[in-house]
Amino acid sequence: MRFECHVDSNPLTGLLFCTDHQAGGELVISNDPTAAGIAEVERDCSVIRPHAGHLVFFDARRHPHYARPLVAESDVRVLADMNFYTESSPESTRPPELNRHLYGDK
Ligand SMILES: [Fe+2]
Repeated sequence: MRFECHVDSNPLTGLLFCTDHQAGGELVISNDPTAAGIAEVERDCSVIRPHAGHLVFFDARRHPHYARPLVAESDVRVLADMNFYTESSPESTRPPELNRHLYGDK
């Protein structure tokens, strides 16, 4: 599963982990809003191990984040990603190229 290093365009992100993983698949969130790339994120970060039923909310506009690769090729990580927009940060601010990149929208 691709979950590259990025910041979100929405003000509130919720992640519900649906599978457990002892190693690999960790959500890595930078404590430094200026971190660019995985190496800088890893220097000062919070690491959340995937645990089924764990629900996390955060403002992902200010915290670059990514998921570490799974350990085994046969591993499957399942999570529900919820992107919330608000009246002051409406969905119309979502960059159109984001859906093309993520979902192949035309
Ligand atoms: Fe994100």
